Amino acid sequence: MRFTGTMKVNAAGNLEIGGCDTVKLAESFGTPLYVMDEEYLRSNCRSYYAAFNKHGADAIYAGKSLLTLAICRIVDEEGLSLDVVSGGELYTALQAGFPMDRVYFHGNNKSADEIRMALAAGVHRFVVDSFDEIDLLDTLAREAGATANVLLRLTPGIEAHTHDYIRTGQIDSKFGFVIPNGQAREAVNSVLARENLALRGLHCHIGSQIFDLEPFWDAAQILLGTARQARDEHGWVCEEIDLGGGLGIHYTEGDDPPSVTDLAGTVIRTVQDTATRFSLPTPKVLVEPGRSISGPAGTTLYTVGTVKTIPDVRIYVSVDGGMGDNPRPALYGSVYECCLANRPLEEADAKVSIAGRYCESGDMLIWDADLPLPRVGDVLAVSATGAYNYTMAMNYNRFPRPAMILVRDGEAELIVRRESYADLIRNDVIPARLRKPRD
Ligand code: LLP
Repeated sequence: MRFTGTMKVNAAGNLEIGGCDTVKLAESFGTPLYVMDEEYLRSNCRSYYAAFNKHGADAIYAGKSLLTLAICRIVDEEGLSLDVVSGGELYTALQAGFPMDRVYFHGNNKSADEIRMALAAGVHRFVVDSFDEIDLLDTLAREAGATANVLLRLTPGIEAHTHDYIRTGQIDSKFGFVIPNGQAREAVNSVLARENLALRGLHCHIGSQIFDLEPFWDAAQILLGTARQARDEHGWVCEEIDLGGGLGIHYTEGDDPPSVTDLAGTVIRTVQDTATRFSLPTPKVLVEPGRSISGPAGTTLYTVGTVKTIPDVRIYVSVDGGMGDNPRPALYGSVYECCLANRPLEEADAKVSIAGRYCESGDMLIWDADLPLPRVGDVLAVSATGAYNYTMAMNYNRFPRPAMILVRDGEAELIVRRESYADLIRNDVIPARLRKPRD
């Protein structure tokens, strides 16, 4: 496992994160446990702030990758904006006191209630995804006596090389208005004709876990082509170009993402050059990173419960979590690295496969990891779990979801409580006819 952020081996010979001994963390908070390295998270925010915001651009943290009240506070303190995609994410931001004039509201099927909630909150931008949403937002904005500021989500027809389910820029996608077939142009016309909508700019998100900057370069040019057309046809000025998120991170050997500075250099320069070429005023550049901010800063700790050796076949090491706290391997075939937190420097003399404890053969966290032969009671650390783990966690088999802690300078603080069994049945209702006398 590659050590990143504040990870190191401490004097006791254990993995340390944020100055905290992870074996002690496992003891005091229990496992599975999500551990967020606060300094690393903040430094990822700062890389974006320095590369974008300091140059008149704006980095918008994608809350879908990881959002809790404490995470909202950190993102706010670091000066980034926030992308929310649901009433629940918006509610979290509101409860955390996140400034609504830095909130962007996404989603391909926002409900009327969610839109009313966002209008009342005064979110900064609605990223509009469909013709039906144009109608609905215009109607609800009129009812609220408001003008909604809109970015139109467009699909530029770019194929980013990543997993099918996390690839979103191609034409055959549920997201956005297609550019090549003229629907994007129609959407621009439609928004410009509405009294209660103000079209501020154009948006696209071409995919996730991307290692190649070229698709961003292509996307910027294609979006600006639509902006030029709208300028020629309506005299409309595109104030903002949002190129979405998508920068990849290191999960395992061979994952070698470009730096945030390289991303900024590419997109800011491309937007500037293309705008000049098209004789357009240079729009403000927006990006929406999620994974590259929260992902590397998270580590999950598990306890080894069983070690099953099938001679000449495989060693299965079962831990006390799995697809419920990290569905990504089962869903996308994602690959992770791990180490034994209580023996990180010991020679890796075994090849083992890390199994979860969910009733599903596909619940395998890592195949063929090189480790010292694990023993019952060892603490296993899986790195780069900060993004799309907690936010995609589930209660399959009625396992409670883990706690999350923030570690920094030797202090560990709870930011999400571990679910209890009582939490699991909190929303269950027994109809009267099924009641027992003591219910
Ligand atoms: N903006 C939009 C409009 C998006 O749809 C997404 C991610 C982002 C920004 C942030 O992208 P990022 O920088 O995190 O790549 N659950 C999948 C990822 C789904 C991404 C969905 N959209 C996974 O675990 O890989």
